[in-house]
Amino acid sequence: MDPLVVPVIYGSVRTERQGIRAARFIVRELQRRGMEAVLVDPMVERLPLLDRMYKEFEKGQAPEVLEKLASLFRRADGFAIVSGEYNHGIPPALKNLLDHFLEEYFWRPAAIVSYSGGRWGGVRAAVQLRACLGEMGMVTIPSTLPFARVGDSFATDGTPSDAKTPSYATEFFDEFVWYMEALKSKRAQGVPY
Ligand SMILES: Cc1cc2nc3c(=O)[nH]c(=O)nc-3n(C[C@H](O)[C@H](O)[C@H](O)COP(=O)(O)O)c2cc1C
Repeated sequence: MDPLVVPVIYGSVRTERQGIRAARFIVRELQRRGMEAVLVDPMVERLPLLDRMYKEFEKGQAPEVLEKLASLFRRADGFAIVSGEYNHGIPPALKNLLDHFLEEYFWRPAAIVSYSGGRWGGVRAAVQLRACLGEMGMVTIPSTLPFARVGDSFATDGTPSDAKTPSYATEFFDEFVWYMEALKSKRAQGVPY
């Protein structure tokens, strides 16, 4: 069977950003489980603030970065969204990136990973994010994976400071894989629209 394809969408472009550590951890954990996990980093992609959505461009006329992400998203079996919490809300670079696309997300599960510099692990943003992802056509898996004090919890390369961290995340990843496989086989039989 082909490996499950999972874009890992991270949403900070701050010079001193810390959440990239958690995003790298997620990429590595998905790869360790045999998946094709691809980090989508707005610092690399440098999407403009939303003007036209990908689908609003004539075929073949969208900027290269949008074409590249759209092809990746079309191949995706699920999306892992790694969100910080800015003033109890979703980081703007994350929302901006997500808003450029729509149909590419349909009939696929999304898994929410949240983090913050403080004690609450970004859970208030995670709650808002679930509502947005639902409107974008993704089915969010029940579990979320919050990380408190993200800067202390991971080294810059994503290695967790607590060696038990991967085992805490086992159920989250198992659930995500279950939803990806379930929806993949259902998509193969057709989608309502
Ligand atoms: C504009 C802004 C607002 C923030 N608001 C919150 C907040 O509401 N709750 C929280 O726990 N941390 C908050 N923080 C701290 C962030 O959790 C912390 O800086 C985190 O590292 C931000 O993610 P990033 O480094 O990936 O950009 C805020 C940080 C910024 C820059």
